[in-house]
Amino acid sequence: MDIKAYLKERKNLVDSFLEAYFSNSIKPKTLNDSMVHSLSAGGKRIRPVLCMAAYEACGRNGEDIVPYASAIEFIHTYSLIHDDLPAMDNDDLRRGKPTNHKVFGDGMAILAGDGLLTEAFSLLSDKSYNKNSISDHALVRAIREIAHGAGIHGMVGGQAQDLLSEDSEPDENTLSFIHSRKTAALITSSIRMGGIFADCSDDALLYLTRYGTNIGLAFQVVDDILDVEGETEVIGKPKGSDEKKKKMTYPKLYGLEKSKEKAKELISNAIESLADFGDKAEPLRQVALYLYDRKS
Ligand code: IPE
Ligand code: IPE
Ligand code: MG
Ligand code: MG
Ligand code: MG
Repeated sequence: MDIKAYLKERKNLVDSFLEAYFSNSIKPKTLNDSMVHSLSAGGKRIRPVLCMAAYEACGRNGEDIVPYASAIEFIHTYSLIHDDLPAMDNDDLRRGKPTNHKVFGDGMAILAGDGLLTEAFSLLSDKSYNKNSISDHALVRAIREIAHGAGIHGMVGGQAQDLLSEDSEPDENTLSFIHSRKTAALITSSIRMGGIFADCSDDALLYLTRYGTNIGLAFQVVDDILDVEGETEVIGKPKGSDEKKKKMTYPKLYGLEKSKEKAKELISNAIESLADFGDKAEPLRQVALYLYDRKS
C-alpha cells in the first residue's frame, strides 16, 4: 500500500471536518480565532488516523467515524497549546506558526485549550454524528477511554511528572512513566477507541492496546530525537527546546544511537502485536513504520 497517500487522504478527511466544525460561529470571535489558529496550523492528525485505522483493522469503514475520531484532535491540540505556554515549555513556534499565546496572549490560549478539551466531549456525546449505529454502550465506553488517556492517569499525569522532572538526572523508571503517560496514553486510547467502536473482541482489544503502547512510546522517543537532530523548519517547532528546559528525555539518558534502537524495537513489537489481524491491519503496520522514519 502507498502509506503516504493513505495518510494524506485520511488527514484531508479530518481537516475538512475540523474546518466545517469551527466555521466562525463561536462568540467571542477572538476565542474562535484562537482555537482555529492552532487547529488549522496543520499537524499530522496521527491520532484520528490511528483511530480510523484500528476501526478498519476490525473490519469496518474508517470514514464512518471521522467526526468522533476528529474529537481526539481537539484534545491533542489543546494539549499542545497548554504545553507551549510560558509556565510549561515556553515555546514560540508550533506547527510552523507562532504559538497560540504569542498571538492571543496567555489568558486566551488557556481558554482556547479549555474550550477544545470540553468541546471534544460535547462532540463525542453528540449522537447526530453517529452515522454507523455505534451502540450507546460503545459510545459511553469510548468516551471513558479517551477521558482516561487524556486525563490524570494519562496525558495530564505525564505532563505533571514532565514538569516535576525538569532539572533532574534522568532515570529509566521516571522517564518511562513520563513518556508512557504524556504521549503514549492518548495514542493508545485513540487506537482502543477505534476497536471499541467496532465492538471488537477482548483479544483484539488487547492486541490493539499492545500495538498502541509500543508505538505511543516510540512516538515520544522519536519526538525527543527530532528535538535534537531535526530541522526547526521541518518539525515546525523550536529545535533544542528539551535541552533548554532541561527535560528528561531518551537521548539524554541513552544517547541518540541507543534511543533510535529503542524506537526501532518498540515499532517491531507493535507490528508483532498485530499478527492475528491479517490484511485489514496493513494500514496500522505501515503507520508504525512511517512513525519510525518520520522527519516531522
Ligand atoms: C507533538 O505531537 C506532541 C507530542 C505528543 C510528541 P505530534 O507530533 O502529533 O504533533 P502534530 O499534531 O503533528 O503537530
Ligand atoms: C508533549 O511533549 C506532550 C504533550 C502532551 C503535548 P513535548 O513537550 O516534547 O512535545 P513538543 O515537542 O512540544 O511537541
Ligand atoms: Mg512538554
Ligand atoms: Mg513541548
Ligand atoms: Mg518534544
